[in-house]
Amino acid sequence: MILPIVAFGDPVLKKEAEEIDANFADLSQLISDMFETMYQAKGVGLAAPQIGKSIRLFIVDGSPFADDPDDEPDPKAKGIENFKKVFINPIIEEQAGAEWAFQEGCLSIPGIRENVSRKERILVSYYDERWQLKEEWFEGYAARIIQHEYDHVEGILFTDHLSPLKKKLLLKRLGNISQGAISVDYKMSFPSAKKNRKP
Ligand code: NI
Repeated sequence: MILPIVAFGDPVLKKEAEEIDANFADLSQLISDMFETMYQAKGVGLAAPQIGKSIRLFIVDGSPFADDPDDEPDPKAKGIENFKKVFINPIIEEQAGAEWAFQEGCLSIPGIRENVSRKERILVSYYDERWQLKEEWFEGYAARIIQHEYDHVEGILFTDHLSPLKKKLLLKRLGNISQGAISVDYKMSFPSAKKNRKP
């Protein structure tokens, strides 16, 4: 089932999400709905707060970042073609390497992309969908996607990393997103949408 993606401005996106345990109701259905929702919206990651659930869960599939076989190999894309994963109660244990900037976007903030600097490598502990505890290093785009999604369960959006000036310049567009005054080709829920507004 495709779930509506919560738009910028909804308080659930600013909340620190709660851990869950193995008794969490209908978790495998929720995970499968989140994958369906993410693929339909052509995202590479989706965190539970983005579908209105304030829990520490996110999913990723970085395959759209995989190298085109005709292009020069991109070292940041290493391993990304098999990067479909579920992260439950994740913790970023360590960060390493240099900061690098990349234009990030977010399914909750359609149409806006801005440079965000993040560390090159991270060590993450998390439970997978079978509740196996894992601890793994990730780098490049994989580390980038995890850091963006991890921010979501902490109540942080990529726009929170921008300079005050950048934020000011985006204010109007962000307001339009909250009100649903945008065109987007996937299902969303807008916190400040006016009732009965004509399309
Ligand atoms: Ni996002």
